Amino acid sequence: MTSMENTETSIRSLNDINLEEMAQKQQQQNIYVTPPVLENQKTASQLSLSKKSSKHSNRDTTTRGKYTLNDFQILRTLGTGSFGRVHLTRSIHNGRFYAMKTLKKEIVVNMKQVEHTNDERRMLKLAQHPFIIRMWGSFQDCHNLFMIMDYIEGGELFSLLRKSQRFPTPVAKFYAAEVFLAIEYLHKLDIIYRDLKPENILLDKNGHIKLTDFGFAKEVTDVTYTLCGTPDYIAPEVVATKPYNKSVDWWSFGILIFEMLTGYTPFYDPTPMKTYENILNGTITYPDYLPPDILDLLQKLIVKDLTQRLGNLQGGSDDVKNHPWFKEVIWERLLSRDIETPYEPPITSGVGDTSQFDRYPEDKDLDYGISGVEDPYGSLFNDF
Ligand SMILES: Nc1ncnc2c1ncn2[C@@H]1O[C@H](COP(=O)(O)OP(=O)(O)O)[C@@H](O)[C@H]1O
Ligand SMILES: [Mg+2]
Repeated sequence: MTSMENTETSIRSLNDINLEEMAQKQQQQNIYVTPPVLENQKTASQLSLSKKSSKHSNRDTTTRGKYTLNDFQILRTLGTGSFGRVHLTRSIHNGRFYAMKTLKKEIVVNMKQVEHTNDERRMLKLAQHPFIIRMWGSFQDCHNLFMIMDYIEGGELFSLLRKSQRFPTPVAKFYAAEVFLAIEYLHKLDIIYRDLKPENILLDKNGHIKLTDFGFAKEVTDVTYTLCGTPDYIAPEVVATKPYNKSVDWWSFGILIFEMLTGYTPFYDPTPMKTYENILNGTITYPDYLPPDILDLLQKLIVKDLTQRLGNLQGGSDDVKNHPWFKEVIWERLLSRDIETPYEPPITSGVGDTSQFDRYPEDKDLDYGISGVEDPYGSLFNDF
C-alpha cells in the first residue's frame, strides 16, 4: 500500500470542514503588461535554449463554424474574469452542461491582450490531457468571443484550500502530482502555462484536477519576455524582465506546493510592488512543520537562479518527478485516474450542480448574440 492510499482516512475528513469559517475569497488579479524589450538581455543561446521549429504548426487548431450562441441556454455565472464572465450553459441539442468563457473584444484590445487571447484558444484546442480542461469550440459575435468547455462541477482548488486552511501532506502531494502531469505534458508540446495558481485548478466530480484558464499559455520554442502572471506566483526572471521559458512554471509549481501546505504564499504582501521586491530578494521563511523531503523539493524549485532550478536542469521534468517527495506516487496509475482522490466534492444534485461555486450577481444586460452592427475588432480574432 502506498502512503497516498494510507492516508485516506485523514484526508477524507476534509469533507467535514466547517464551511462557516470559509475565508473571504480574495483572488489574485492577473497582470497584463508587455514591457519594452530591454537592452543587455541574454540571448537564447546564452540560456542554452536552442531555437526549434514549432511542434504543431501543421496541426489544425481551428474550430470555426462549429457552434453558435443559439446552441446553448445560458444558466448562471460561475466566475468573473478580467475580460468577461464564465457561464454555466446547457446544450439545447444534447442537454449536456458546458462552461462558456466570454471575453469582450473591446477590453481584450484595450488591454493589449489580442495575441494572448488568440493563443489561449489555440493552446486550449491543442491540449488534450486527463488533467486539462477540454475545449469543444469557439465562436464570436460583434462584441464578444466565446469558448465552450466542459463544465467542471467541483469548483476551484482555491475554495477548498481556503476552507481547509492548509492541506495535509498527502492531499497536497496528490494535487501536486496531478498538476505535475499536466505541466509536464504542456512542456512536451513546448507550451508554457504561466498562470499556475489554485484559482485555475478545478476539481471534477470525483476530485481529480482540471487545469483551466489558458489566458497566458503560449507556445515557446525559444524564450519570451512578457511580464504576465499573478503577483504571488511570478518567477523572479519574469519580474526582472529577463528572457524565460519553462522555468517559470517550475517556480510557480513550488509556490503552489508551498501554498497548499501552509495556506499562504511565501512572498505575499498586500502591495504587489512589495511582493515583487520579496520575490527578487528571494528570502523565504519555511515553517517548522514542513518535513525535510518537502523542504528539499521546495528549496530546489523556488530558486532564483533559473539555471539551478529543478525542472529546468539537464534532467528536465523527470528531476521533479523523481524527487523523493514523490517517491510513492505511481505515475501511470495516477495518469489513468486510478488512484483514489483525497476529497470528493459534495455534489448532490447531479451533473449541473453549482453548489461548489460562489454566487455572482447576474448581469441582466448581456450584449451577447448581437450581429449586423459595426465590429471593428472582428478581424483580429479570425480563428474564433
Ligand atoms: N470549465 C470550467 N468549469 C467550471 N468553472 C470554470 C471553468 N472554467 C472557468 N471556470 C470558473 O471561472 C473562473 C474564471 O475563469 P478563467 O478561465 O480562470 O478566467 P480568467 O482568465 O479571467 O481568470 C475560474 O477561476 C473558475 O472558477
Ligand atoms: Mg483564471
